[in-house]
Amino acid sequence: MPTSKYLDIINSQRKKKTSKKFEGSFLEYLSLVEKDPTISDHSHKRLYDVIVAHGVTALEDDDPRKYKLFDSENVKIYDYFSKEFFGMETVISKLMRFLRSAALKGEESRQVLLLMGPVGAGKSALTEHIKASLDGEKYYHLKEDPQRGDPLQLIPRSLRDEFSKMLGVSIDGDISPVARYLLFEKYDKAYEEFKVIETTFSQRARRGIASVPPMDANSQDVSVLIGSEDISKLDKYSEDDPRSLSLNGAFNVGNRGIVELVEVFKNEIEFLHTIITATQEKRIPSPGKHDMLHFDGVIVAHCNESEWNRFQSEHTNEAILDRVVKIDIPYILELEQEIKIYEKILGRSNFSSHIAPHTLRVASMFSILSRLHSSQKCDLLTKMRIYNGEEVVEKGRVKKIDIRDLRDEAPREGMQGISTRFIMKAIDNALSDSDRDFITPVSMLDSLIKQVKDQIVDLDFQSHCLDLIRSTVRDEYLRMLESEIAKAFITAYEEQAQSVFENYLDNAEAFTTNSKMKDRVTKEDMVPDENFMRAIEGAIGVSSSGREGFRADVTAYMFSKMRRGENVNYTSYEPLKEAIETYLISSVKDLARIVTKSKTRDDDQKQKYSSMVETMMDEYGYTPESAEEILVFASNNLWRDS
Ligand SMILES: Nc1ncnc2c1ncn2[C@@H]1O[C@H](COP(=O)(O)OP(=O)(O)OP(=O)(O)O)[C@@H](O)[C@H]1O
Ligand SMILES: [Mg+2]
Repeated sequence: MPTSKYLDIINSQRKKKTSKKFEGSFLEYLSLVEKDPTISDHSHKRLYDVIVAHGVTALEDDDPRKYKLFDSENVKIYDYFSKEFFGMETVISKLMRFLRSAALKGEESRQVLLLMGPVGAGKSALTEHIKASLDGEKYYHLKEDPQRGDPLQLIPRSLRDEFSKMLGVSIDGDISPVARYLLFEKYDKAYEEFKVIETTFSQRARRGIASVPPMDANSQDVSVLIGSEDISKLDKYSEDDPRSLSLNGAFNVGNRGIVELVEVFKNEIEFLHTIITATQEKRIPSPGKHDMLHFDGVIVAHCNESEWNRFQSEHTNEAILDRVVKIDIPYILELEQEIKIYEKILGRSNFSSHIAPHTLRVASMFSILSRLHSSQKCDLLTKMRIYNGEEVVEKGRVKKIDIRDLRDEAPREGMQGISTRFIMKAIDNALSDSDRDFITPVSMLDSLIKQVKDQIVDLDFQSHCLDLIRSTVRDEYLRMLESEIAKAFITAYEEQAQSVFENYLDNAEAFTTNSKMKDRVTKEDMVPDENFMRAIEGAIGVSSSGREGFRADVTAYMFSKMRRGENVNYTSYEPLKEAIETYLISSVKDLARIVTKSKTRDDDQKQKYSSMVETMMDEYGYTPESAEEILVFASNNLWRDS
């Protein structure tokens, strides 16, 4: 029976779902609160706790990002966000600081959280993710109350202090007019018998999670926020009968949970005033002639910078601005994290094409570079490296540029430039070329150029972008490619590098301490090999007058690491690593050039070429087609001067 397997799945799921939900009198509910007072938490506290429950860790002490990018501060990592959002640690910690104070009923609990940033910086994605944290969480509310109000609000004012103390909870606000009607008509004022039910937050079913899209001025109507009077019921009920109310606005739905306001400043001022009352006074107007309704919910809004600037410039908006906590959501400026964004988005798409190594890196380099402001201290590429936590080596030294200075120099950096969405489109375009099932950095560069020409209207910015792609990014890619190809020609590259490293270290130590060194095999005394050391140092431009300093630096650095019990290898000290790599790579440069460029190869060259291509496929992850494409690119563009 082919369909039975489906039925099995359906039935077993149904069984799982029928775990009994609480339904009982208010009195019974009180004993639930007594057991677990957190079930009556207010919205900010609930949201904060739900997110924190996923786990909070600190950035590991040995994580280089900690001291290179975060000034050794103790950056908290919230697990709930860290798998989805990259390079946004600072933003997320601001967000969590807001929620934490709001959870503790600080002034933040009476403020709108506003996420402001450029297009495609992740504002919507972040808000969605925050909302999703509540989805499926359970909460209790008054039965048949469209406002899904807090049952504790049934307790009369005169008894609240006593109940608060007994239960260890706080009690705010009053029941809705609908609940009040029920209390009088159905329960005959016996509030202890009022039915309380358990439910779960659900964005789809509009329980506790609401979202308000921006509306054009003509169709705007506050009923989207606060519900309306149902005209069809007005001939049945009198105007002040709460049964005529349709409490289905965002603030009705989002009570106890969260209300999202998309592009908030596109709305009319009347709208904004409702929002302000909701947050500041925790009350919203009721449609018709009814009392204000109590509202307890987290209000998250987002907007872009121009909307914000326009709004902020009008002084009549001061009252609103005072009730907003703004968090900037800039583009990220950290290359490694930017790459992860595209890996994430691509991981969710159905594209199955092969993506050659460095393709996403090339695209990401472009977006990051487009966001950077130029600096007196270094060029853009160097700045990108520093922001990426890399060490930049110049003449044998790590270039000392303080990342804080760079950041201070350009406080608005990250608020402009190429967006993630722009890059995604360029990637998609390259991927959807139907003639081929792979993309490479080469096709990526083409796609980026096309996209820039098609989409960027501002001619100055367009030409800046084209310049970045055609020179900065392309040159940097060629540099990476050259060393990759050369490495692929060197058999057992890592081992060779390590052995050069050990050899150099022996020599440099002997030179620095003015002693003889022992040959590792024959144990004979030897003098340090000056030519060998110079060959390596020369590779990164250490002058002969700088050699002593360089050797002393290397030796001191390595021995201090060893004293701390750390392992050292050829990658331990960036300047030396670069020197060794450059030295090794230049040793096969001629070979790489001849073998890659020549149209006809002798047997030995053929053998070297195919073993190189094999390494590129087996170790670096190319396919035969992508390897061929980039090798053709390399032979046309590299080694031109020789
Ligand atoms: N730092 C980041 N980490 C992970 N994903 C990101 C990051 N920044 C952007 N994204 C992704 O980029 C895409 C676009 O983001 P989103 O739609 O949230 O932008 P937005 O800020 O709301 O833009 P707009 O102002 O145009 O509405 C989303 O898929 C989002 O997940
Ligand atoms: Mg958005």
